[in-house]
Amino acid sequence: MPIAHLTVDPHFTVGPINRRLFGSFVEHLGRCVYDGIYEPSHPTANPEGFRQDVIELVKELGVSTIRYPGGNFVSGFRWEDSVGPKEERPRRLDLAWHSTETNQVGLHEFSSWLENFDSELMLAVNLGTRGTAEALDLLEYSNIANGTELSDRRAANGRPEPFGVSMWCLGNEMDGPWQLGHRSAEDYGKLASRTAKAMRQLDPSVELVVCGSSSAKMPTFGSWERTVLEQTYDDVDYISCHAYYEEVKGDLNSFLASAVNMDYFIESVVATADHVKAELASDKVINISFDEWNVWYINRVAANAPTGIDNWPVAPRLLEDVYSVADAVVFGNLLISLLKHADRVHSASLAQLVNVIAPIMTEPGGPAWRQTTFFPFSITSELAKGVVLVPRLDSDNYPTEAYGNVPVVDAVATYDEATGKAAVFVVNRSQTDTIDFRIDIALPSAYGSTDTISIDSAVATTLSADNDIYAANTLDNPNHVAPHLNSTVSVKDTSVITVSLPPVSWTAIAIN
Ligand code: AHR
Repeated sequence: MPIAHLTVDPHFTVGPINRRLFGSFVEHLGRCVYDGIYEPSHPTANPEGFRQDVIELVKELGVSTIRYPGGNFVSGFRWEDSVGPKEERPRRLDLAWHSTETNQVGLHEFSSWLENFDSELMLAVNLGTRGTAEALDLLEYSNIANGTELSDRRAANGRPEPFGVSMWCLGNEMDGPWQLGHRSAEDYGKLASRTAKAMRQLDPSVELVVCGSSSAKMPTFGSWERTVLEQTYDDVDYISCHAYYEEVKGDLNSFLASAVNMDYFIESVVATADHVKAELASDKVINISFDEWNVWYINRVAANAPTGIDNWPVAPRLLEDVYSVADAVVFGNLLISLLKHADRVHSASLAQLVNVIAPIMTEPGGPAWRQTTFFPFSITSELAKGVVLVPRLDSDNYPTEAYGNVPVVDAVATYDEATGKAAVFVVNRSQTDTIDFRIDIALPSAYGSTDTISIDSAVATTLSADNDIYAANTLDNPNHVAPHLNSTVSVKDTSVITVSLPPVSWTAIAIN
């Protein structure tokens, strides 16, 4: 049986795990908001019209910060439409998704929904059809306590205390020709810089995310980041990355190695940000907000977008990808990549949360269920605490068309000194081979010596293909795919763990 070997030592850390790595994203797109989180006529709806069954699943998922309200949607959004008495809110055309926005859910409703999970609100401002003045208005409405026109309007709308939003995205995917208000890196950089400076004048505590590339495949990738950061370096805290992966033309080998591309993407953006740091002789470090990531069968779903001057549906079924086991294994590997770069990726948002390329699906008037991708997220969010340990990994390689020779196994370990608990997350990308995986983990004693202490127990949970790597959870069969306890795990010599990794699988090992 092929083997792979991970060695970690808690003295060698990548960095602390920021809880914001387990963020998600809710966009006014398709059925994410309407008929997703919000369905007043649903049997489980709470008095605000939000589905309680969805709330319970979001709690279980373990999301931290949630980015809102877009996405492409935000580049045409007028935030004022979404506050005040619901019956007075206008219906608007949403050009991004060729839909009608009813504005029945807005800033107040969404913020109170987040209180169910103690999640942090991350807002995006519209730098597509709007600019600095409107961004300032929204910031005043959100973060100023009282005594101004907009803060008093917020109070009159039912929210006396400020929303206190820290994280702000300066627009969305402004490098993309599909984006309303798309512009050159130079032009966007200038607008983002002006807006950021003004926002900080109003509230110096805000944390600002400038738009990086929509994917590492954009023709402007690299030069976009450099130019934008040259304009905004002193004004912002983070640069964004967005990445979606899919199996193309049956090339499963490459798809299973998608995290290789995420590693490359992150490392390239870090290098570019540090290049600008050197150019400017700055002491400041710009980190990454990976504020859109997922598996997305973008070409399949694009065909469903509504068209026609008289056809602007409310909450159409858009981007409702059904995820397989293979998708979940890739997804789990993307989380491993984010963790491996925890020193520079300080925030991330799984795009998206409900119905739209989502871990949670709903049927109007019916049930809500977990997609395959739900499990790697909820388990990683629960177990990955403390710091990420530097992974020293030995694995065979396999050939891929997209990325050349890549490791069959990818893994990362985390360690929480406060509780003494550790965790390892690992994928087997092989379609044929079970891998004999060995972990050597040296845990320090409570006295800070380098002595290795005993591992009391290790519990492994595996999501694997079994007979069908395209198995999925659906409305008719919502519990078809679930992770199982992997009984092959064993602890040897108090510091060595071994476990068998089935082909095309994701495994989490909780170490106590
Ligand atoms: O998440 C779906 C869409 O993907 C977002 O609206 C956009 O930012 C990205 O292109």
